[in-house]
Amino acid sequence: MHNMKILPARSLRGEIRLPGDKSISHRAAILSALAHGVTTISNFASSADCRSTVEVLRAVGITVKIDGSTVRVTGRGSKGFSSPKLPLDCGNSGTTMRLFAGMASGLGLGCKLIGDESLTGRPMQRIIEPLTNMGAEIASTDGHAPLLLAAGRKLTGTEYAIPVASAQIKSSILLAGLNAEGTTTVIEKVVTRDHTERMLRHFGVEVTETIGAEDRRITVAGGAALKAADMTIPADISAAAFFAVAASALAGSEISMPGVGLNPSRTAVLEVLRRCGARIEVIGRREAANEPVCDLVVSGKEDLKRTDPNFVIRGAMVANLIDEIPILAVLATQVDGGLEFRDALELRVKESDRIAAMVANLKLMGADVQEFTDGLRVGRSRLRGAAVASFGDHRIAMAFAVAGLLAKGETTIVGHECVDVSFPGFFQILESVVVR
Ligand code: S3P
Repeated sequence: MHNMKILPARSLRGEIRLPGDKSISHRAAILSALAHGVTTISNFASSADCRSTVEVLRAVGITVKIDGSTVRVTGRGSKGFSSPKLPLDCGNSGTTMRLFAGMASGLGLGCKLIGDESLTGRPMQRIIEPLTNMGAEIASTDGHAPLLLAAGRKLTGTEYAIPVASAQIKSSILLAGLNAEGTTTVIEKVVTRDHTERMLRHFGVEVTETIGAEDRRITVAGGAALKAADMTIPADISAAAFFAVAASALAGSEISMPGVGLNPSRTAVLEVLRRCGARIEVIGRREAANEPVCDLVVSGKEDLKRTDPNFVIRGAMVANLIDEIPILAVLATQVDGGLEFRDALELRVKESDRIAAMVANLKLMGADVQEFTDGLRVGRSRLRGAAVASFGDHRIAMAFAVAGLLAKGETTIVGHECVDVSFPGFFQILESVVVR
């Protein structure tokens, strides 16, 4: 385990080139593999998680050529995949395991999916149940990895209401549905990120969406033929969030981040920043591969204050900013009145128990924090440097690196190397824009 020291910063200034969006990159690789022809993906995420997806696809017979951030995938349609003899290692990546399990089930591939200690502790029954309903046979240890998928099963389309707001469950089922008999409909009560639906359309697949008063229904037909379609992956808004919070909280800052994804199912983090009085400018809106993109400019302010004193982050908004709660909890320490996060029980089953991790680290740094089963409340606090643990969780490590910039004294992130899971080079880029 390695340590990273962080010193307080006066401001952040400069342009930041962010890695390609992690969620979109996973889907780009998987759907390219299921398409007919060669797809060139530019600005593919540099993250270890997306590398796990690439390696898993290679192991089932897909040719993937990597040249820097350009990835070329030779798709096989729905035939010609091979069942691997060795276990497929999904590493730390829940998205790899859940999405690939859906894809492999649809293709009738026999395989064993394994992951690291964190991933092995995360809930998989949520995909095992719907995939089993469709005809897959998946053995697990009490709903956890390793997952053993039986070969040669033929799936039938389903209609499934997902019990927890999760784009991973939705995507797993839709991917299975592409090669099932008949149609597959996923019903979600809370809207989750819709990158899979958008990218399926980019590959020429018809996706039907019905928005009702209480829910959203997404339908795909089995036997759909995907056509290879090049794309450029937008910069990752979840990575942008760390810099946006740091710049907002440090007066005199001005940073620009070109080409950031602005998918409405991911932008609640910007809304929260604005509702805390931050200065966020969205410039040059455009589309890339059926995803909205913009250049983001964030400037610092003397004083952050909530525009609505009763504002609580809860309900439908939570799924939209689930990955940004660690950094927003750090933002809360800088906002007059602080911030409260509720309805976020899912945070307890991410790469770490993020509620427990945030509470422990914020306390170590002297913050005023209260833990709830489904969230936390963080008051405005003067942070002091401390040695904090990453809990092996990339977003905790990066959030507390930002906390270190805002604190008095020196902060040490213990086990900082996990940032590679989503953002290799994070600390170097951060240092390159810090003014002391
Ligand atoms: C993701 C969806 C979210 C998110 C994860 C990536 C995706 O997980 O936390 O980092 O790419 O679909 P859930 O859908 O399980 O909430």
